[in-house]
Amino acid sequence: MERVIKIFDTTLRDGEQSPGCSMNLKEKIEMAQQLERMNVDIIEAGFAAASPGDLHSIQEISKHVRNITVASLARAHKDDIDKAWESLKYAANPRIHLFLATSPIHMEYKLKMTPEEVLETAEKMVSYAKSYCNDIEFSAEDATRSNVDFLAQVFSRAINAGATTINIPDTVGYTTPDEYYNFLTAVIEKCSQLKTVDISVHCHNDLGLGVANSIAAIKAGATQIECTVNGIGERAGNAALEEIVMALDTRRDYFNAATNIDTRQIMRSSSLLSRITGVKVQPNKAIVGANAFAHESGIHQHGVLNNKETYEIMTPESIGLDTNKLVLGKHSGRHAFNDKLIQLGYALSKEELDEAFKKFKDLADKKKDVFDKDIDALVSRQKVEIPNAFELEKYVINSGNTITSTATIRVKKEDSSVEEVAIGEGPIYASFKALEKIIGRDFELDDFALNSVTEGEDALGDAVVRLKEKNRVYVGRGLSTDIIEASIIAYINAANKIIYENTEV
Ligand code: KIV
Ligand code: ZN
Repeated sequence: MERVIKIFDTTLRDGEQSPGCSMNLKEKIEMAQQLERMNVDIIEAGFAAASPGDLHSIQEISKHVRNITVASLARAHKDDIDKAWESLKYAANPRIHLFLATSPIHMEYKLKMTPEEVLETAEKMVSYAKSYCNDIEFSAEDATRSNVDFLAQVFSRAINAGATTINIPDTVGYTTPDEYYNFLTAVIEKCSQLKTVDISVHCHNDLGLGVANSIAAIKAGATQIECTVNGIGERAGNAALEEIVMALDTRRDYFNAATNIDTRQIMRSSSLLSRITGVKVQPNKAIVGANAFAHESGIHQHGVLNNKETYEIMTPESIGLDTNKLVLGKHSGRHAFNDKLIQLGYALSKEELDEAFKKFKDLADKKKDVFDKDIDALVSRQKVEIPNAFELEKYVINSGNTITSTATIRVKKEDSSVEEVAIGEGPIYASFKALEKIIGRDFELDDFALNSVTEGEDALGDAVVRLKEKNRVYVGRGLSTDIIEASIIAYINAANKIIYENTEV
């Protein structure tokens, strides 16, 4: 009989922990709702004890995501478990996810605990968490460098105390597919109770084997896979959700296993995450890379034209990549626009729809062809908009190859307008200098990038500005058919985020 493998998405916890991938509350909620739309079984919404902001985000995500399980991570400490439960108090389907290291190196140097103390703590803390909630996951951190017999004892104690899912992570991305298969088979053999709970795996990608190891684990009996969209996560990241899901989907004949994922939401989940974090996906990345379905060589193109299956093992449509269609133009009405939004998976309130429709009309005035991707970029940006401390009013740029660029920018700041002029090497540098003067702060520019949303001469320019403040990077995005305007908006957006996040909660 075909097995159904649960997908536990940790984009908002392990993923968000990785450098340059932090998200604010609105962004996390938008991402969580997209994960729900994609139908993952569980989302790990954060690590409540990390900060009051994290705890609050998990609470808010729990209020917005009602159809799937929401997990909150905790160390095996009473205080962490209390906070995890506090963060889950609004969840329709809460899960406390406890972790405790079991490898000799972690027990000795990190936990400073003996193996006996680890056994006792695992049992006590699972039973403490169980007093709050029925759905308890226990993770043996650094499991793949742990002793198999010891691990079997830890799991047996955790299951007896009430754990309903046991996670056997490859925390440091050290194992290999064959080795992991044999290791898991041995643990399952030594701890027969594992057959009564969900067996989960969580593979890091330090050797580029995260997905291969997760797939080997399914063969060994894992019933839940922990993964992230685009494979983001600590260090080299986690196993990529889209790769695992599409491997199972494409090779259903071989694995005899499926997931509950709506694969047509994969591309949107990937693009939304990139848009929020400003972290681009490499073009040759499996499934969601820009070239994943591109056929460049003549021989391949010829084959695909005759029969797609000559070189395509899955269709672009299966991951929702049929979106670059001409959709609406400047004569399209509100009704058609709303129908398109529903088709794209958005459910907007009347006010949100009014605002989105106005933005669409403005865009349709400037751009001849408006594609699904353009609409997606506009609306997903609108959904994560934060209160603006600064707003662009107007700008004039003087630039050329024989003059020093000058930027004059006027910005709305509270109830007044502030205007500044600055010169610089090039129009964008001059603009950023003028904005620094207006905002009155000297942010460190960590990165700046410009891309186009769709192809064509009138394509929407998508600017990404990363500003650094107190060791945290804030990602600003700007969309416009004018790339200088897009860059100015992106800079202001990043500055607004710094202000918003430092006054949040
Ligand atoms: O990598 C890891 O082991 C983890 C645990 C908290 C599951 O992230
Ligand atoms: Zn991890």
